[in-house]
Amino acid sequence: MARKRRTTDGPSGDAADRETPTAGEAEAPPPRFAHESEEEFAKILDFYGITWQYEPRTFPLRVEDGKLVEAFTPDFYLPDIDTYIELTTLKPELMTDKNRKVRLLRELFPDVKIKLLRKRDYLRLLVKYGFGPPSSKSIEGIHRVLVSAPQLKRRVSELGAQISKDNRGKKLLLVGVLKGVVCFMADLMRQISLPVAVDFMAISSYENENPDSGFVRILKDLDENIEGRDVLVVEDIVDTGMTLNYLLGYLQARRPASIKVCTLLDRRARRLVDVPIEYVGFEIPDEFVIGYGLDFGQIYRNLPFIATLRPA
Ligand code: PRP
Repeated sequence: MARKRRTTDGPSGDAADRETPTAGEAEAPPPRFAHESEEEFAKILDFYGITWQYEPRTFPLRVEDGKLVEAFTPDFYLPDIDTYIELTTLKPELMTDKNRKVRLLRELFPDVKIKLLRKRDYLRLLVKYGFGPPSSKSIEGIHRVLVSAPQLKRRVSELGAQISKDNRGKKLLLVGVLKGVVCFMADLMRQISLPVAVDFMAISSYENENPDSGFVRILKDLDENIEGRDVLVVEDIVDTGMTLNYLLGYLQARRPASIKVCTLLDRRARRLVDVPIEYVGFEIPDEFVIGYGLDFGQIYRNLPFIATLRPA
């Protein structure tokens, strides 16, 4: 079932004001759409994980003798870009009336952003929104978008600000665990306003085909000496916690001044080892995820959002 990214708080509310956002939350009941194209548009927004509200506000356009004689209720509001969306039909006579109303609304409410969208404009909006063109090739394995590109951007920026604040006066060494961390590391390090050094490690992972292959191996060790340094381990996802648990033990033995952990995704439902994590981007449900560095058979790492994989 497609996840509803709809919010119930008003245009000024911010449902994302929480310490650790939980992706894939409970769904609100679906609204009754006045038109099929609106429902279709809502589905596209849901697919890409864009938060929306249906007809949340009515704007008075004309008042005569103290009575409201004309008002306008745009179809959608997209809180992430603070923009109202009005879908147009193909009937020219209705188009003219809608154009007039939108013009009037812009005159009366100059601070309100509104877009008039034809169906073919949907894709343009999505491109502008940072998803790239949804070509069938790039989305064939995607079931639904769990964390959208704007949500990632906002949360990574919040994490960067928090890390900068908590570690003021320190020179951090960011240690990324390859390969899944590439997108997150690249974005996160640019949101940290401290002097940072960056290093990477690669660790052999458990393979289903060969579960007896032994224990974790370091495929690529640190280039930096971490003794006496403040280390921030950066992970894309923590599941069982076994990788991180091993890694923390390995790094501790090299006597750093401190070690903290930042993970973009926390799939706690799969935890087998309790590991301390200071910074979590999103808690996610127990589903296989791809994109923004995470792969399935080494594919999908380049998706600019995090999605669940279509069930086979
Ligand atoms: C992922 C991730 C973590 C590890 C977490 O790596 O980057 O390192 O799994 O799993 P755990 O908590 O159960 O130990 P993966 O093995 O998929 O390699 P990749 O980053 O190269 O894709």
